[in-house]
Amino acid sequence: MTTVKLHDKTFDTYLSSETIQQKVAELAGILNKEYADRRPLFIAILNGSFMFASDLFKHLTIDAEISFIKLASYRGTKSTGRIITAIGLEDDLFDRDVVILEDIVDTGRTLHEFLPKLHHQQPKSLKIVTLLHKAEATQFPIPIDHVGFSIPDKFVVGYGLDYDGLGRNLKEIYQLAEKDIE
Ligand code: IMP
Repeated sequence: MTTVKLHDKTFDTYLSSETIQQKVAELAGILNKEYADRRPLFIAILNGSFMFASDLFKHLTIDAEISFIKLASYRGTKSTGRIITAIGLEDDLFDRDVVILEDIVDTGRTLHEFLPKLHHQQPKSLKIVTLLHKAEATQFPIPIDHVGFSIPDKFVVGYGLDYDGLGRNLKEIYQLAEKDIE
């Protein structure tokens, strides 16, 4: 097993680069069939999804567009709770086939809060594709259409995902080592 040290924590290899690449190609194959002749607009959520989105996009053989957005959350009033805003969402989604690309869905909170904003623009269809899903961690159920890997509720890094800014450049996905789980 290979390990990496990021800041104060050790991570063990969990998914190899080959395993990830195979899954990404598989997901792209499904999307090529689902969206044949439909020119979907992919919306990749930064920062974590940049590697997944870039690899997936290379496998698409259909006409497709892509935009990258960043979600920022801030505290609203007591009644509005947390407010999510999308930075960089300039496309008109009306009547478009939209596909959200996420690196990981953990509690589901981010997408749960963001999805109404997308629906408000009345896309023709809206699907969610995530590379990783921590099913056990779900607190806000959201309709995920395609999951690359369903993973345990343990912190992961690599392939775009970070631990306090580090680890995004790793080709593999690593899991927090048992000894470092608090
Ligand atoms: P959610 O709102 O709880 O679903 O969390 C989504 C966001 O939390 C993801 O887009 C990631 O940025 C971050 N996140 C959740 N779990 C992990 C992890 O294991 N490693 C790195 N980032 C994570």
